[in-house]
Amino acid sequence: MAETSQHAHSSDHMGPASTSGKPGQSPAFAHPSEEEFSKILDFYGLRWEYEPRSFPLRWEGEQMREMFTPDFYLPDLDLFVELTTMKQSLVTEKNRKLRRLRELYPDVNIRLLYRRDYHRLLAKYGFGPLSQADTKGIDRVLFTTQQIQKRVAELGKAISQDYKGTQPVLVGVLKGMLCFMADLMREISLPIEVEVMAISRYRGDGGSGVRIAKDLDSDLAGRDVILVEDIIDSGMTLNYLVGYLRAKNPASLEVCTMLDKKARRIVDVPVKYVGFEVPDEFVVGYGLDYEEKYRNLPFIGTLTPEEKS
Ligand code: IMP
Ligand code: MG
Repeated sequence: MAETSQHAHSSDHMGPASTSGKPGQSPAFAHPSEEEFSKILDFYGLRWEYEPRSFPLRWEGEQMREMFTPDFYLPDLDLFVELTTMKQSLVTEKNRKLRRLRELYPDVNIRLLYRRDYHRLLAKYGFGPLSQADTKGIDRVLFTTQQIQKRVAELGKAISQDYKGTQPVLVGVLKGMLCFMADLMREISLPIEVEVMAISRYRGDGGSGVRIAKDLDSDLAGRDVILVEDIIDSGMTLNYLVGYLRAKNPASLEVCTMLDKKARRIVDVPVKYVGFEVPDEFVVGYGLDYEEKYRNLPFIGTLTPEEKS
């Protein structure tokens, strides 16, 4: 960001009209901190445009004498962001311009950010906060906290409508569904009940089939059951569970999964509610683990090649 004349700087560095956060399409950033900020936005899956708009601030007669071009616009948040790294004297000048901009354009949301504020700002909008340690091993964010919350709310609403007048039982299978089920149940406006089960997973040691490690507490006969899953991959786990639950003679049985990795399906089981479809890649976070790690990430992402090996 040119700290002196936004005016001259803008014409020098104005990138293509809409420079969104697509890899390999970096505009000519005026300052390394801008590039760093764009990478943070990319990491969190937030769209951005670099210097898409200039705001006239002062005229003399017909002549525009001063204008301001914020560094970034984030359409998902409807927010302009101006980055600043530097000297107090220049900050004062910038603050004056910002005050003027807010007076003239009261409907425009704009934030002045110091370097140390980046993560804090993103946290406020639900995109963090994440220390280096939390995200070590993560390659890409597929679904941000905000995207997940929005989708879970939609699923909760759909279930509330479809099951109106009933008292369904949500059955979750540990541990991958922990975050999803905790959020989903709070988005359902019906008098639901909740059950959790645990099953043994295949360990490649020729063990004698799936074992129920923690069984249901209540009788599902005659109940409307919704099986809540984290992710459906081959479909074998789900196929087993649906068989197990059917044998309990519920009045109805449907499946609600956070993620569906369709490309890998071997056993096809009908799934009524799907949060997101995911590509054929190993994903972690929001309950999903890799060797028991990453369950506590507030987003869903992929692993770096180093972490996977
Ligand atoms: P399936 O029996 O092959 O459908 O596997 C489903 C189970 O495998 C899920 O409940 C997860 O616990 C685990 N799983 C499958 N894909 C992933 C992934 O990408 N990340 C984390 N766990 C996964
Ligand atoms: Mg797992």
